[in-house]
Order: sequence, then structure tokens, then C-alpha cells
Amino acid sequence: MIEQVKLLIKNQLNDYYNSKYGIEVNIIVEEPKNPSLGDISIPMFNALKLLKKPLPEITSEASDVVLKCSDLVKEIKVTGAYINLIVDKARLSHQIIKNILDEKENYGQTNIGNNKNIVLDYSSPNIAKSFSVGHLRSTMIGNSLKLILQKCGYNTVSINYLGDWGTQFGKMIVAYEMWGDDALIRKDSINELSRLYVKFHNEAKLDETLEDKAREAFRKIELGDPKYLEMWKWIREESLKESKQIYDLLNVEFDSYNGEAYYNDKMDPIVKELEEKGLLIEDQGAQIVNLGDDIPPALIKRKDGGSLYITRDLAAVFDRKKTYNFVKAIYVVGNEQKLHFTQLKSVLTKMGYNYGEEIEHVNFGLVLRNGKKMSTRDGGVVKLYDVLEKAIGVAYKQIEEKNPNLENKMEIATKVGTGAIVFNDLKNHRTLDYEFDLEQMLKFEGQTGPYLQYTGVRIESILKNLEFNFDNSNDEVFELGHYFELVKLLGSFSSTINRAAFELAPSVVAKYLLSLAQSFNKFYSIEKINSDDEKIRNTNLALSKCVRYVINEGLRLLGIAFVNQM
Ligand code: ARG
Repeated sequence: MIEQVKLLIKNQLNDYYNSKYGIEVNIIVEEPKNPSLGDISIPMFNALKLLKKPLPEITSEASDVVLKCSDLVKEIKVTGAYINLIVDKARLSHQIIKNILDEKENYGQTNIGNNKNIVLDYSSPNIAKSFSVGHLRSTMIGNSLKLILQKCGYNTVSINYLGDWGTQFGKMIVAYEMWGDDALIRKDSINELSRLYVKFHNEAKLDETLEDKAREAFRKIELGDPKYLEMWKWIREESLKESKQIYDLLNVEFDSYNGEAYYNDKMDPIVKELEEKGLLIEDQGAQIVNLGDDIPPALIKRKDGGSLYITRDLAAVFDRKKTYNFVKAIYVVGNEQKLHFTQLKSVLTKMGYNYGEEIEHVNFGLVLRNGKKMSTRDGGVVKLYDVLEKAIGVAYKQIEEKNPNLENKMEIATKVGTGAIVFNDLKNHRTLDYEFDLEQMLKFEGQTGPYLQYTGVRIESILKNLEFNFDNSNDEVFELGHYFELVKLLGSFSSTINRAAFELAPSVVAKYLLSLAQSFNKFYSIEKINSDDEKIRNTNLALSKCVRYVINEGLRLLGIAFVNQM
């Protein structure tokens, strides 16, 4: 709400200068780093430069306008070119808290998205290969962005663009035909298929013909050989089971699973359009589009007529635009594919479509293990599902030590264990690499998911069995630093979400939650929440309840479940 006051002042001052002098001043309204200067500060340098009047005249004129903006402005102090305001903390805080108590988990919802459609392409694992750490990052970042954008009033479409087309299927088929054991595959398909895949790669090092056989097998699928197509379908289904296990654990859902294979028969019109627009050029038997001096050409069709990754992505863009009429298409994919998306955008521009602004590659960094890229082929950790299970196991042990009598320990351990991994991923800006340290991320103290969940549990246990009536509150306490700091944070929830949406960065919400939890824990260490003074007790309980709402909702936006006990 302090945000609203700031915005109001900014708009009113801008309007004032505009109508009175016909100039755009671009007023800046900020919060001073040092709260003893005031709650809001307006530097008047721009106006001084443009109006060419003595400074005292400018500040006194502006002060009059500001005073009339909102009855929450209590006092104005002018220091040099700064107009510093003190707001009525008691009234402002009361309004903020009342508002949260009314809105509950809907608090923070805005409609800047105006129900416009945003398409998010994330997770998108390569079927028949193992689910990589990069795909896990894409899943968690994409899921959180979806929830954040929904909270801002966008209508989202989440697409799992499966990598379900390509020579890896040829490899699987060759491996299956040579070494596959039907009974074993039926019993334990995921492990058996990945064993076959690994075996293929090992054997291919010794026998060069295997790669050719795999290419031939895939070509047969592309040409629609019924037997091979049937096998492709079956391998796709079985492999997808591994990904689905992970989605179930993380509680992630998609609106569409249309992957690369879906576009296999939808590329011809695009190739034709490229041709008609004179963009397609033959190069050593292949078809390419030149993209200027700075970007390497895009390979659209292989010599043998086979299509490529970018060809399928082009078909997908047009299909998505037609189906969903998106205002933005977000691709959550690692840094390594930067060139691919640059090329994709560039081809579209060359074709005369102005999708440049709408298509956004939301990139991210690597997950490291002892400083090196963590890979699912590592000897140590093989499957991500196992990593998640391990985190759940560690969480289970911790809970058992701390709270042995807890019911549904397994359910809670699942939320805490997966929450730890998700929070650890989202807390730093997505473009950064990070070290995968399970022990660290599962700690109940420090910058972790469990710390946030635990703060929520602490509040829950305070509120349990206690009634309060916020209409009978003591609002004077909001003048105190540890109260007002907390209320101010609560009041900036929606602007924080909007910023996260604008920057497409879940870390903005994650960092905010850490500040909120820290601020609450400080408050808790100073105040006896269940105070003997009835009015103060009402205030304290209401404030705590609001923190609880916001922590729960904030965690939800990151894709993390809250718990009531742990
Ligand atoms: N399957 C791809 C990979 O793992 C990611 C797909 C990303 N989405 C897209 N539309 N290209 O590398």
C-alpha cells in the first residue's frame, strides 16, 4: 500500500507539472535507505533543472501537491532538494493488514496481464534419454513462472515440448532388437530402457555400423514404417513414465504434451513459405537460410530430406500463435541453446513476422557438483528421481528426530525434501550456476526451503487455538521499527510478484520470502506474540496470520508446498 501512495504521488506531481507548465518532469519517488529520513523521499532535481526557479519555491510548491495526495501522508520535511515524507504508519498498517485478512490467499493478485495468453515451453525432456539435471531446472523455473504469471492475471498455457523425435529412437530400436528382453522391460521399463541406451553407446564405440543402423531405423520411423512406428510409440510411452514420476513428486502439470513428433507432418507449409519468400538457399545439398554476418545460417533441411530441430520449432511457433494467439512465448531452456533461439527469432524476422519481442528465451545456468557440470551420466547419481527420493529420505530422518510423534511423516517429508531442492534452485537468479549440495539445502536454518516452511509452522503453532479480533487492535505499535518493517514487506507482496513476472525471475519472490521470514523471526524474538494486553495481542496475532498467508502463497508461487507441522 505504501507502493500505492508512492504511485499516487508520482502521478499527481507529474500531472501537476504537465497541466500547469506543460512539461514532463518524470518525478522519482523512492524509499530512503535510512528510515530516519522518512518513509518516502522525492528528489526534486529534475524539476529544478526544467523549471529554472529557486529551489525553495520548487519544494514548497511540490509539498503542497504532495500533502493533498493522500491522507496517509502525515508530515513533510524538506532537506535540500529532497522532499521527505512520513506516513501515518498506524493507519497505513491497519489498512494493509485488514486487506490481507480479507483477501487471504488471493492477496497479491493483480490483473496486469488482463487475461492475455502467455505460452510457456518448459521441461521438454528428450524421451528415451534420461531426464537431465537441466530438464529438472527447466521444470522448476517454468512451473514457477507459470504460477507467477497467473497471479498477475495472465492466462497461461504450459507446454511440454517433448524431444520425442530423433535418432535416439533409432538407437533404442536397434538396442532393443539386439539385446532387449521383453519380460525385463515389462517389469522395470525405465531402468531396462536406460540400460539398453547405455549399452548401445558402449557397443557403438566398438562397432561403427551401429550408428548407421540407428539412423536407418529412425529414417524408417520418419517414413511411417508401421512396425517401427509402433515401437516408437511404445518406447515413448514407457520413457515418459520416468518424467511423470518426477512431475508427480513436484506436483507439476502441463496443458499440452505436443512435442517434436507432433510437428513431423506440419513442416511442409513453412518450408514452402521460406522458399516462396526467396529465403531458402541450397548449400551442399542441404537447405539453409542465411541470417547475415553475425549469425550462422539456419539449417532447415538435411541432405537426405530429414528435418531439423529448428524446422520443428518453426512449425511449433506458428501453430502456437494460431492456437493460442499469445502475447508472449517463453522458452525455458539452458544457456547452451542461446544460438538456436537467436536463429529462430532471426528466421521469423526474415519471414516478415514481428515476433521478436514476443519470443523470449528464458535461459539458465548449470548445476555443478564439486565445481563440475552435474550430469545424469555421473557414476554417483544416475537418476534424478533417485536424487529427489534421497532428499525426501533425509528430510524424513530430520523430522523423525525433531518430531517423532508426527502423523503422516512421509507426506511431510515429501513436501520438505522436494521443497528444499526447488527452493535451492530458485533462490538465485536463474542465469547463475549453482552447486548441488543436498545437505546444505535441507537445513532448517539459513536460506533454505525448509527454513521458510519451518517459519510457517512456527506461526501456525502460535495461532493454533487463539482467537483474535483485529477491529479491536492497537495500531500505535506500528510506529515501532520491527512492526513497521514487517508490515511494509507484507504490503510490497504484489509489487514483488509483478517484478518477478516482468523480469521472468522466480528468484525475486524467493528472496522476498527470505526477507519476510527473517523479519518475522526478528519480530518474534522481540515481542511476546500472545501478549497479556488484549489489543496488542489482537494486533500481533493478526500480523502473524498475515505473514502466514503470504509465506504460504509465496511458496506456492515457487511450486513449493507449505506444511502445518514438521
Ligand atoms: N528437448 C530440448 C532439449 O532437451 C529442449 C526443447 C526446448 N523447447 C523448444 N521449443 N526448443 O534440448
